[in-house]
Amino acid sequence: MGVRSQPVSNKWFETVAIAEQRARKRLPKSVYGALVAGAEAGVSIRDNTAAFDELGFRPVTAGQAADPQIAVNVMGQPCAMPVMISPTGVQAVHPQGEVAVARAAANRGIPMGLSSFAGKPVEEVVAANPQTLFQIYWAGDRDFMLARMDRAKAAGAVGLILTLDWSFSHGRDWGSPHIPQALTPKEILPHAFELLAKLPWCWSWLREGTIPRLRVPNFASADEQAPLFFEAYGTWMTTPPPTWEDVAWLRSQWDGPFMVKGIARADEARRAVDAGATTISVSNHGGNNIDSAPAPIRVLAEIAAEVGDDTEIVLDGGIRRGSDVVKACALGADAVLIGRACLWGLAANGAAGVENVLDILNAGVKATLRGIGKDSIADLTPADVIVPKNFSPRPT
Ligand SMILES: Cc1cc2nc3c(=O)[nH]c(=O)nc-3n(C[C@H](O)[C@H](O)[C@H](O)COP(=O)(O)O)c2cc1C
Repeated sequence: MGVRSQPVSNKWFETVAIAEQRARKRLPKSVYGALVAGAEAGVSIRDNTAAFDELGFRPVTAGQAADPQIAVNVMGQPCAMPVMISPTGVQAVHPQGEVAVARAAANRGIPMGLSSFAGKPVEEVVAANPQTLFQIYWAGDRDFMLARMDRAKAAGAVGLILTLDWSFSHGRDWGSPHIPQALTPKEILPHAFELLAKLPWCWSWLREGTIPRLRVPNFASADEQAPLFFEAYGTWMTTPPPTWEDVAWLRSQWDGPFMVKGIARADEARRAVDAGATTISVSNHGGNNIDSAPAPIRVLAEIAAEVGDDTEIVLDGGIRRGSDVVKACALGADAVLIGRACLWGLAANGAAGVENVLDILNAGVKATLRGIGKDSIADLTPADVIVPKNFSPRPT
C-alpha cells in the first residue's frame, strides 16, 4: 500500500503517532527522552498502549449514529468531549509551554490539568484557560501545601488534583536523559552538539527572547523566587508519604472538585472515595512509576464496579486515538486525561499542534460512536467492547 508523505511545509498531522515523529525530529534528544520517560524495562509504558489494541468493537453498517453527542461534565466542568489535559511537569518543550497548551484546550472546550512542576505560573495558565485544575504532590509540610493550594485558588483554579503514585526509583534500561540543574554555560556545554542539531527548536526560544529556565514557579508563593526543578524535587523526595487520613485532611482544605490521581486497585479506589475524592484517576503515571503495574485500562472495569456509582472516574495512560477514549468510556470512565499525546502536539506545532491532537481525538470519538451505532457517549456500556479472556489481572 503506497503512503503519500505530507509536504514538509504542512504542519498539520493526521495521527498522534505522526506528531510524535515530528517531536522526535524537532526536540533535543534529552528533552525528547524526558517525555518518553518510562521506567526500568518499560513493561508498563508499552502495556499502556498495547492493552488498548487488544480491545475490539462490533461495528454496525446500517443504523449508524448520524451525529453522536460527546460532551460530558467532569470535575464540575463542561468538556466538549470526554478528554482533559493531564498535568505534566516538563520543561523546555516549547517556549510558551503550558500557556500554549491551556489556550489550545480552551479553544477546544477542554479543561487543563496544570502540574506543580510546570514551567509556567498558575496565574498565566488560568488566564489562558479558566477551566484549570491544579495538580499537587504531597511535598513539604502542611502549611507549604496549603500555601500552594491557596495560591491556585486565588488564581482561579477550579479543581485540585492530588497525585499519589510516585515512589522515586526509576532507572531505565535504555538510559535516562541528562537533565541539567540549571542552564549555566558549564551545564550547556555538554549539550552543544545536541543543540546544534536542533536549530529550529533553539530559534523558537531565541525568537521569544528566552531560554528554558528549568524552574517550577508553582512550587512557591507568587512573590517568591521559583525554585529550580531539582530543588523542588528534593523537597518532595524528603517528605514522608501521606496516609489516607492525611489525604482526607487535604481534601477538607479544598472546597471544590478533588481528584486523587494514580489509583490502580479497587480497594484503594474505595479508600480514596472514603477520603472525600470527587473523582479518581485510574493511572500508572504514564508507565513512569512502578514498572509492571498494569495498564490502567486493564483495571478500569474492576474499579468501576467498586466505586463507579459513588464517584467520577477518569483514566489516563496510553490514550492516542479517539477509539481509545471510547474504549475507556465503555469500560467505566467518565473521561480520560491525555499526557504524551498533548506533549507531542505541543512539540510538533505549539498551540496549533495541541489543537490538532484534540481535533484528532474529537473526530475519532465521533467516528467510533458512529461506527458502533451509538448516539451518545452516555449510551456506552462494557458490552460495546470485545474484551479478550485474561485481559484483566484477577483481583485478589
Ligand atoms: C514527561 C511527563 C511528565 C509528567 N509529569 C507529571 C506531573 O507533574 N504530575 C502528574 O500528576 N503526572 C505527571 N505525569 C503523568 C501524566 O499526568 C499522565 O498520568 C500520563 O502521561 C498519562 O499517560 P500518557 O502519557 O500515555 O497519556 C507526567 C507524564 C509525563 C510523560
